[in-house]
Amino acid sequence: MDKINFTVNGEPISLNGADVSPLTSLNDYLRNYLGLLGTKAMCHEGGCGACIVSVTKIHPGTNEKHIIAVNSCLVHVLSCHEWEITTIEGVGSKKDGYNSLQSRLASFNGTQCGYCTPGWVMNMYSLFEGSKKNLTTRQIERSFAGNICRCTGYRPILDAFKTFASDTEARNEIKDLEELDKIKCAKKCLEVDNVGDGWCFVDHNNRNVLDIKMDTNRWYKAFSVDDVFKVLAKEGTDNYSLVAGNTGRGVYPPTNESRVYIDISSISALKDTSIDANLVLGAGLSLNETMAIFQEQMKNDDFSYLKQFYDHLELVANVPVKNVGTIGGNLAMKNNHPYFASDVYVLLETVNATVTLEDMHSKTTEIHLSKFLSTSLKDQIIMNVKIPPLSNSHLIRTYKIMPRAQNAHAIVNAGFNFHVDENHKILTSNIVYGSISPTYNRAINIENMLKGQPLFSDETLRTALAKLQEDIVPFADPSEPSPFCKKAIALGLFYKAILSLSPSVNPRYVSGGSELVRPISSGIQSYETDKSMWPLNQPVPKLEALTQCSGEALYACDQVSGPRDVHVAFVLSTICLGEIVQFDTTEALKLPGVVAFLSAKDIPGKNSFISKEVPWQEFEEEILASKKISYYGQPIGLIAAVSRKLAIMAAGLVKVSYKKYNTKPVLSISEALNAPDKKNRIREEVTIQATDKGNETTHTIKGHYYMPDQYHFTMETQSCRVEHTRRGIRVLSATQWIDLVHVAVARSLDLPLNSVDVSVARVGGAYGGKASRSALAACACAVAAHALNRAATLVMPLTDNMHAVGKRQAAYFEYELGVNDDGVIQHADIVYYSDCGYSYNDTSGAEIASTMTYLYDTSRWNIKGYSILTDKASNTWCRAPATTEGTAIVEHLMERISHITKKDPVDVRKINIPSKHDKLKDMIDTFKMDTNYNDRRAEIETYNATNAWKKKGLQLTIMCYPIVYHRNYSVTISVYHADGTILMSHGGIEMGQGINTKVAQVCAYTLNVPLSMVTVKGSDNFVAPNNIASSGSITSEAVAFATVKACNELLKRLEPIKQELEEPTWQKVVKTAFDKGINLQVNAMTSQLDNLVGYPVYGVCSAEVHLDVLTGNHIINRVDLLEDTGRSLNPDIDVGQIEGSFVMGLGLWTSERLIYDTNGQLLTNRTWTYKPPGACDIPVDFRISFSRNSINNNGVLGSKATGEPAFVLAVVVIHALHEAIVEARKEYGYNDTEWVHVDTPYSVENIIKGISPNIKSYTLK
Ligand SMILES: Cc1cc2nc3c(=O)[nH]c(=O)nc-3n(C[C@H](O)[C@H](O)[C@H](O)COP(=O)(O)OP(=O)(O)OC[C@H]3O[C@@H](n4cnc5c(N)ncnc54)[C@H](O)[C@@H]3O)c2cc1C
Ligand code: FES
Ligand code: FES
Repeated sequence: MDKINFTVNGEPISLNGADVSPLTSLNDYLRNYLGLLGTKAMCHEGGCGACIVSVTKIHPGTNEKHIIAVNSCLVHVLSCHEWEITTIEGVGSKKDGYNSLQSRLASFNGTQCGYCTPGWVMNMYSLFEGSKKNLTTRQIERSFAGNICRCTGYRPILDAFKTFASDTEARNEIKDLEELDKIKCAKKCLEVDNVGDGWCFVDHNNRNVLDIKMDTNRWYKAFSVDDVFKVLAKEGTDNYSLVAGNTGRGVYPPTNESRVYIDISSISALKDTSIDANLVLGAGLSLNETMAIFQEQMKNDDFSYLKQFYDHLELVANVPVKNVGTIGGNLAMKNNHPYFASDVYVLLETVNATVTLEDMHSKTTEIHLSKFLSTSLKDQIIMNVKIPPLSNSHLIRTYKIMPRAQNAHAIVNAGFNFHVDENHKILTSNIVYGSISPTYNRAINIENMLKGQPLFSDETLRTALAKLQEDIVPFADPSEPSPFCKKAIALGLFYKAILSLSPSVNPRYVSGGSELVRPISSGIQSYETDKSMWPLNQPVPKLEALTQCSGEALYACDQVSGPRDVHVAFVLSTICLGEIVQFDTTEALKLPGVVAFLSAKDIPGKNSFISKEVPWQEFEEEILASKKISYYGQPIGLIAAVSRKLAIMAAGLVKVSYKKYNTKPVLSISEALNAPDKKNRIREEVTIQATDKGNETTHTIKGHYYMPDQYHFTMETQSCRVEHTRRGIRVLSATQWIDLVHVAVARSLDLPLNSVDVSVARVGGAYGGKASRSALAACACAVAAHALNRAATLVMPLTDNMHAVGKRQAAYFEYELGVNDDGVIQHADIVYYSDCGYSYNDTSGAEIASTMTYLYDTSRWNIKGYSILTDKASNTWCRAPATTEGTAIVEHLMERISHITKKDPVDVRKINIPSKHDKLKDMIDTFKMDTNYNDRRAEIETYNATNAWKKKGLQLTIMCYPIVYHRNYSVTISVYHADGTILMSHGGIEMGQGINTKVAQVCAYTLNVPLSMVTVKGSDNFVAPNNIASSGSITSEAVAFATVKACNELLKRLEPIKQELEEPTWQKVVKTAFDKGINLQVNAMTSQLDNLVGYPVYGVCSAEVHLDVLTGNHIINRVDLLEDTGRSLNPDIDVGQIEGSFVMGLGLWTSERLIYDTNGQLLTNRTWTYKPPGACDIPVDFRISFSRNSINNNGVLGSKATGEPAFVLAVVVIHALHEAIVEARKEYGYNDTEWVHVDTPYSVENIIKGISPNIKSYTLK
């Protein structure tokens, strides 16, 4: 029987088909079969990077060894034949010593929740080893397009990795975490350097096709094209797939698995590259191999245009995808899905490349790409593409416009190739567009029209643009930017191409011809630290940093399954409003390995994951809808199966008949306000009456403002594992709120609370999304475990998580203001609405007003706030809930006042701030001076006056963030007599914010012992019962407060011993206390009885942006952020909180969009369509500083909270962009006197809409 052979961290593995199925990815194999849990996964589609591993493999063409990163979620395990795979466990560990990549990342504070971290390390490790440790700073910075980190804001990760660049001085100056953990020689890492040494199992003599029989499917490994056709002749061609890099399923997840798979990745003929006249590229070349060839060939005059192709391919996908994804696979996808925004197709079509196909009769055909699209690939292999040499009479430009800087498919991509004579008259042209519609790839009409025309004449330009405007009719796809936006960009790109090619243009237009170029990013972090206080106020790395960087840190579902364990997946409703009539589970239960289907009827106790016995929760929400469906994607059933993928697949096979209500889903606040049942959808939350009214109104301002919703995008999705114990059950939950999970699970199973253990080691990102909402996954998992009497694991797929679980609440404001000439508010009427989804739980409706009235003098403001019900999942808290809305609206109002009064926006803010916040006014003045604000504004004015098609904006925003303490957090501290070491556990949840490190510092400081003596274990409901959710930024402080109380109690107990001893070292005191029977365990709790007083967190932030007017793309050139952190408990951790928060805020305001179909279905439900910021979206120059000499007199130990406040400052970016948009509109002849309304978020689409481009302004002279 044929076998697939490979190694994992040096261990040989031999697989036959009996072990696996078509669903078994390398990731599944590593985690579920080998128990290597350091490699994580989230999206399973190449879009997040959590799953990256390193592969050493032999190139079938050159026989050389290469080290590359791959997404283990996309690679099928049977594709790994003859690979040497290194996982994070093989790179370094506590036992074998850490690799310097791991320790460097840890010491740079590049890990917070840690869930993304192994993926980052493995991508860097592969790059570093693969390049023989020769990487430039730029290469490093640009190579992480596929790694998402929602916590850190990327800066520290990039900084850490850039120290390994060959072109940086920093390389020699770095100290790693030697003090924290001795770095031993990592034996396994050195082995990888020896890549030239023997390959144990590559058998060059035996290259016969491998035939692997799976249960009902077959996998063939072909070594020649002939092999492929032999297999097809034998198996038939009715149901087969070729597998090259297998990344295509990341874009188009298959709905059915094929009967036959043929792995073509080792066919050397498909890697052949040659130059006759053309450059011939084997279709099996990966996109990265193709780029390397382009880099070489661009030196040749006839192929100098490949420099642009190289740059364009840099923008395609991400490094691990491009390491295995092939050009043949990309073209086949375009062939199969005409609307696929293929960049490979656009590039090749621009230069009239051809494709060579070979069929089963060994007949080869060479066809042009346009014909290729209408050619069936059934029974044919793409052998190669031929790229022609082109002289410099071909003027070529290609472009890709994306919703974020990297790793996104094109909103529009385009290629222009003008073949001109010596007078620049057009002989022929190729005008290629992608992502316009399934049928529109070339502007043939315009190409024809241009023949014989002078390329660089205003007349030609005018006529071509007018014709293009008619010709381009973008397809209306609701999940994509609008046809208006696509057309405007397509026209802008045409103009951009001509501007860039033209030998002479109006100097004001020159910069329109270039694209925005992002320099290497940098950051400065300025803070003071008082050494006399150390370890308090000391910038120490997180206690868990090294274990997170090595994948040793485990999360809720990082458990190796036992033989009887089940994996659970939700069945989600596929209607929005109606009732369940019946389930038909026949197809689902037929699949071998599917264990059971469960519905609401199988819940023994209360069918609600919300318990009103727990504070803050008002309404019950069903775990599984018993009858009524309230939103599209609501959980209605559960499938339990022996593997996760099987459970997910079977869940999709459950057929549900519904009685659909005859009502249109209400999906937005405005729809709710106009709905026939409006009165049932609105709840008044707050009414504030003005206590004063000014009588100097000279200007009246009216308007509305929308703050978008946002998906939390935790790298660890909602997940839970439930095991049976002798007393009851043990729930390992990814939750921010142990108490809610505890009560809800016990009630749903009808168990006494003392038989349900809940514990949390850490969570992989939460941001509010795992507070109340985590109880859904926990209860569902518990129901399955209970019903089946087996251990159960539930890890929600990203799409399920996005459909079933609520998100940040959108908010809508309507306002009318009267102001005097100085900008002082005379009266204000503001009404706002907060979109709660289908239940009022977790509403921000009341709290928004608290932030609105916290900073400015609002004595003249009338405010009414409402919560609104819509037919969507019940929304919830998301980092800085309510405060984001409250700050955004008041800062927007300040911008509007400044506009109408023509006063400086900073002065307008200051004049409306009452004297109790004078500290903030001082901060603004210092900030402006420190950041050269006025000079930079003057420079920007000059820049905007001299550049028509690039604009800059620089704006400043402030915050006064209210910190409010609430409820219980407990701490238990145990001291061990034999060595005096200290172990803590507390009721806060470590979710990346560094709470464990901070409280260990507080403990060490209070007990006056070295920090190295203190460790912190995970939280559970035995040591921390009845604790409130870790939320509102205050958990670290509240737990720190309890820690001080507990330590003081311990010190009190030890004091008499200390007095007795001559040299009372800590160890001696502890030992003596033990001998005397003194209890060395203490606990304490912070609660409302402590009367902790809240306080404001002040902040000032400016952002400078650079906008490409013709495409709507922007770069954030610089951000300065000054925050009053008090005397930070740990400045490095607080810098991390501030940067991470701010960057998550950037996503809210610029690139993330939740778009619903009219039937209530979320359309942007995966990494392909939902775009949080990536590593190259952050400010190029990112400067964080803490207020100097600041000690918080309220708070705890002089510090202030940092987890959320900086999020609200991110709104500054849209103010700066607004300025740039207004400047841009002038170039199109708009003479705006009124405020220019721009829809939020400031996505490419809304920026373009705001600018409203008009081709009449596009001229050369
Ligand atoms: C996260 C992500 C981001 C991406 N971003 C972009 C982007 O920005 N721009 C862009 O253009 N693309 C993008 N892609 C698509 C990517 O380029 C393709 O997935 C990749 O090139 C496909 O190659 P593959 O070898 O993995 O194909 P596979 O997945 O192995 O195969 C895909 C299809 O092609 C067929 N096939 C493969 N090779 C051949 C052949 N030689 N002859 C005939 N049929 C063949 C297979 O049968 C299958 O139907 C992205 C993909 C991912 C996962
Ligand atoms: S899980 Fe593989 S890239 Fe997201
Ligand atoms: S540390 Fe990167 S996602 Fe949490």
